Amino acid sequence: MCGIIGYIGHEPNPEIVDILIDGLQRLEYRGYDSAGVAVMTEAGLELQREVGKLSNLVKKLASIELIGRAGIGHTRWATHGRPTEYNAHPHTDPDKQLVVVHNGIIENYLDLKEELAALGHQFASETDTEVIAHLISHYYQGDLKEAVQKTLLRLEGAYSICVMHVKEPNYLVAAKTSSPLLLGKGDGVNFIASDIPAILRHTRDIIYLEDGDMAVVYPDKLELFRIDGTPLERPVQHIDWNLVAAEKMGYDHFMLKEIHEQPAAFSQTLGGRISEGHQRLYLDEINLTPEQLKGLNRIYIVACGTAYYAGMVGKYLIEKFARIPVEVDVASEFRYRNPILDGQTLVIAISQSGETADTLTAMKLAKQQGALTMGVINVKGSAITRVTDGTLYIHAGPEISVASTKAFIAMLAAVNLLALHFAQVREQISLPELTAAMHELRRLPRLMEETLHAVEAPVNALSTVLLRYHHCLYLGRGINFPIALEGALKLKEISYIHAEGYAAGEMKHGPIALIDALMPVIAVVTEGDAYDKVISNLKEVRARDGLVIAVATVGDERIKDVANEVIYVPAVPEWLSPVINVIPLQLLAYYVALRRGYDVDQPRNLAKSVTVE
Ligand code: G6P
Repeated sequence: MCGIIGYIGHEPNPEIVDILIDGLQRLEYRGYDSAGVAVMTEAGLELQREVGKLSNLVKKLASIELIGRAGIGHTRWATHGRPTEYNAHPHTDPDKQLVVVHNGIIENYLDLKEELAALGHQFASETDTEVIAHLISHYYQGDLKEAVQKTLLRLEGAYSICVMHVKEPNYLVAAKTSSPLLLGKGDGVNFIASDIPAILRHTRDIIYLEDGDMAVVYPDKLELFRIDGTPLERPVQHIDWNLVAAEKMGYDHFMLKEIHEQPAAFSQTLGGRISEGHQRLYLDEINLTPEQLKGLNRIYIVACGTAYYAGMVGKYLIEKFARIPVEVDVASEFRYRNPILDGQTLVIAISQSGETADTLTAMKLAKQQGALTMGVINVKGSAITRVTDGTLYIHAGPEISVASTKAFIAMLAAVNLLALHFAQVREQISLPELTAAMHELRRLPRLMEETLHAVEAPVNALSTVLLRYHHCLYLGRGINFPIALEGALKLKEISYIHAEGYAAGEMKHGPIALIDALMPVIAVVTEGDAYDKVISNLKEVRARDGLVIAVATVGDERIKDVANEVIYVPAVPEWLSPVINVIPLQLLAYYVALRRGYDVDQPRNLAKSVTVE
């Protein structure tokens, strides 16, 4: 969490603040507790910081003219120290000679602080970052790179940092361990950023830094080292996202735009991966040989948040088609429970950002223990892709809204492809069945369009009903149980209404005690094996005065006997129904949050990429 941007050019640039602010705007999903910039002007270092969202800093900067060759900026998600101006980044050393922005947590900062305090250092903030600034100044003897290097050797924990020193105006120093950081190569200008969208306006040529890397960034060259000073090279990756995809394009919020981009995201994930005659799949990038796939005796899927629910859908699909046992784990649990892994186990990470700290660490553990590994990832070249043996990119394009929607849909497309591929290689599916399944997959984007068209207005109207309530129960069964969980997550994330997702059959073992007129139930009850059972569960709710809102298959009249409100979606085979059923639930969360007046794209306390454990 926290977003970092750095810029350096040859000439003083009157647009430097715009460049930094534009970059920070595109990183604001990483945190919005405070923001700040520092610019290297002719007169020295200029530092401006403000509490709250970036817009507050923008207001402050409106009356200040800053022209400079180099600058750094930061948008904060508070870890150490409350969100106040004095805790906002950039932080300086006692003599105000250097500035530092930081993403991560320095675990030994209190020891270092004590050590520096004993030498007479006084601190102006409660942050761990200020300790980094003081330590660099402590080691500085005319060579910033060397001082940063010595400092890094003392730090324990996670960091990506960017440092600028008034006596060395020709370069910036960047370094990372655990938290993400990349360099952007421009034409006579160079950039440092936490994520690609921040610099996409200026360059598409990116170098990802690896853990333990340092970079000295000049306007026209980049020098990379390990912390011990060994020079190194890292590949330049060309990013093919376009900037338009990272704009709102007339929508009020990124979330709504991204919901509407889902049919395209799903198609992009299928991409050229299904053969013309729907007879085979091309998934070479997962780097698993037929022998390895045939030899698998277990799959673990590890992920967090929305990606975890995509993993749960993946479990149903892989077990259904490929008949391999699958366990799905929250990444933060997986790594601490000593999982049983070997060369016949495949561990799949699912992650939009490819940077989530818990998922990343889980994959490192899986790799160490000799399991086969792969990622289902959106962001090209991101940290998890650099750890796993192979990566299936979902190609959803940049997702900006903190609440994930189109990446989830693209993850569902990806787990469908994996399930069918594994099934084909392991000879668990006949060719006609495979062809029919792929044909169905191909039809889905059109049905998703139809769903968006059919449900948006009724869901918008229905959102007024939910405004009255403080709690909500989401029910689903089988492959739609994860969709109930995802629906509940979306509602709580952005509308702050307490919501729980439950397996419908499990309701009678506890949550039924909560049912009364104040507990609405939102049920996914489309056609499928457990349809009758869910209907019975809903009757139990109605018998206790609960309000029932059902997502049901178009043409289903029976549902009207048990539901107060029905949202109809097109008919699809049950195994594909999550892709359709989640759409009304995403829209419901969106419209409820909108009507409650909340900031849909930047919900409180959340960050899109959680790069701390
Ligand atoms: C955060 C975000 C969620 C996201 C989760 C996993 O909690 O707020 O929307 O699902 O991280 O992120 P990933 O990038 O690994 O998919």
